[in-house]
Amino acid sequence: MAPALRPVYNCPPFPMLLTTMRLMLAPMEGVIDHTMRELLTSMGGIDRCVTEFVRVTDRLLPPKVFYRLCPELAGGGTTATGVPVYIQLLGGQAGPLADNAARAAELGAPGIDLNFGCPAKTVNRSDGGSIILREPQRVHAIAAAVRAAVPAHVPITVKTRLGFEDESLFLDIVRGIDAAGVNELTVHARTKRHGYRPPAYWEEIARAREVTGMPLIANGEIWSPADALRCLEVTGCDDLMLGRGTLCRPDLARLVVGAAEGHMPESMQWQEVLPLLLQFFAMNLAHYDAHYAPSPLKQWLVYLRGHYFPAALLFEKVKRLRDPAQVQSALQAALAEAIADRLEQPERATALKIA
Ligand SMILES: Cc1cc2nc3c(=O)[nH]c(=O)nc-3n(C[C@H](O)[C@H](O)[C@H](O)COP(=O)(O)O)c2cc1C
Repeated sequence: MAPALRPVYNCPPFPMLLTTMRLMLAPMEGVIDHTMRELLTSMGGIDRCVTEFVRVTDRLLPPKVFYRLCPELAGGGTTATGVPVYIQLLGGQAGPLADNAARAAELGAPGIDLNFGCPAKTVNRSDGGSIILREPQRVHAIAAAVRAAVPAHVPITVKTRLGFEDESLFLDIVRGIDAAGVNELTVHARTKRHGYRPPAYWEEIARAREVTGMPLIANGEIWSPADALRCLEVTGCDDLMLGRGTLCRPDLARLVVGAAEGHMPESMQWQEVLPLLLQFFAMNLAHYDAHYAPSPLKQWLVYLRGHYFPAALLFEKVKRLRDPAQVQSALQAALAEAIADRLEQPERATALKIA
């Protein structure tokens, strides 16, 4: 029998209606590729996605690099459900970044996103990501060069952390990005030094609002509709970016939108997540080598187990499986078990939903 479903705590509707709020799906290198984008955007609630990063060093990259990271370019730069996918560039040299941004725009990218947040040592050592935040003037120069190289109708967005060592340069960074004329700024409310450790310092984003009129998108530690509401209140932002929370709860964006529109949507139950896992696995089998295809599935289960206890058990069952047929069987068995459990004990599943 499947283990007990975890209680689902629904957030009450937000006290004010936020019908203009937009929700962005965060870029996540090695985790949110085009298959995950397609799946998560099909759940509803997401207004924009960003690719994994295109690493730019000193040269113009061939189109195949852009198509590999953003296969959506072949379909107009949107996911199957019509959500635009911006191409993320990462690097430290203004000229090559500008050239590659122009190329991405020529290939049909609906927008370009510049990454100044990556904390990875390998990336920082080769002059990319958050290390550039030590030089606000350079952040400005890169953003300005990219903006100038791309037609005005193609938006340029920037994603930053609060700083590298600390927040002391944060407002200078924001002013520089503002002066570069880019369209929007997403702030992951932590420094590089903070890594991914909670909390996120949302109140710092409110400080940024005092020095720029540019649309600001708040990001970091939003795991529930209640977190989303608090983040909007603390930051004063209209828009949010969701990362790991959407992997733990694939319907998170839909729930946040529902709460913002004044109703209380039902959270997904585990037996509704299992068909998504099967679909995700099938997409990975279609796009990647059969030996690789189980890996993204296992990785997703690691996130899902943060919210769904049965995901932890399923992960234990599949973690050593390599044969795609065995992985598929394990998923199908888990689905059959979850459905049987639900049919046997519908009243328990209902009782577990605590409003
Ligand atoms: C595995 C992983 C990969 C990430 N890759 C990127 C990236 O390529 N570009 C970027 O700007 N941020 C990247 N991030 C940061 C996320 O976009 C986001 O800012 C961060 O996870 C905080 O948001 P969250 O608490 O909603 O997850 C990554 C985060 C993780 C955990």
